[in-house]
Amino acid sequence: AKRKLIIAVDGHSSCGKSTVAKDLAKKINYTYIDSGAMYRVVTLFAMRHNLINGDKLDENKLAHLINDIHISFSYNDELKRHETFMNDELVEDEIRSLEVSNNVSLIATIKFVREKMVALQRKLSEAGAVIMDGRDIGTVVFPNADLKIFMTADVEVRAIRRYKELKEKGDDISLDAIRENVKKRDFIDENRDESPLKKADDAIVLNNSHMTKEEQLDWIVARMAEVE
Ligand code: CDP
Ligand code: CDP
Repeated sequence: AKRKLIIAVDGHSSCGKSTVAKDLAKKINYTYIDSGAMYRVVTLFAMRHNLINGDKLDENKLAHLINDIHISFSYNDELKRHETFMNDELVEDEIRSLEVSNNVSLIATIKFVREKMVALQRKLSEAGAVIMDGRDIGTVVFPNADLKIFMTADVEVRAIRRYKELKEKGDDISLDAIRENVKKRDFIDENRDESPLKKADDAIVLNNSHMTKEEQLDWIVARMAEVE
């Protein structure tokens, strides 16, 4: 039998990490874990408790409240989608809003938040056969991952992809606002002290600017075959 791998997919915002990770999980019956959704839940929680003011976060209050946040996931067979829950409330759509996107990188700079999320990420992966996407999966969460992919695409391509997606959902947001969010998050993610976004030395780069979803899936399947 083939080995149960741990596959880490890191990279820039909105390039298609979660899309390819979900596609692969479905194809080979792996567990998909969305680490970004976890940071988004903590962000939504902080926003609801008024802990964020402009670019200032009340870290002390969040430190007191963080253990009250229970994050869970399940797959909705009817809607055929992965769903995220905050204390058993379905928050899948709310955590993808531009408001949450605009605050999430601030929350993700906080050390105690990251420690808690990493512990959860490792716990959910104990059974193996996992594909997880994020920013620090190959560098911090699973430095010994069997396969590490670093994904990126041109910023304009990424902004347009996200724009189309939000537009289809009925969100009326300008391409400019999305482009600014994508650029700002990349900057914060790459320049923070705690687990910055960077390519692991042993990660393979996938630039999918000119690839379809099918092409990028085939590409990863081929990389898997090399390590299995
Ligand atoms: O899907 P998108 O690339 O827009 O973002 P995401 O994967 O949902 O992650 C949202 C934010 O969470 C990122 O911009 C990072 O600031 C943070 N994040 C992180 O710091 N570490 C991770 N492993 C995953 C996400
Ligand atoms: O997880 P991440 O933020 O990296 O990106 P995503 O949410 O998986 O994908 C962003 C958008 O790009 C989605 O609307 C995808 O359908 C689209 N897309 C893609 O993932 N891959 C391509 N080759 C082309 C478009």
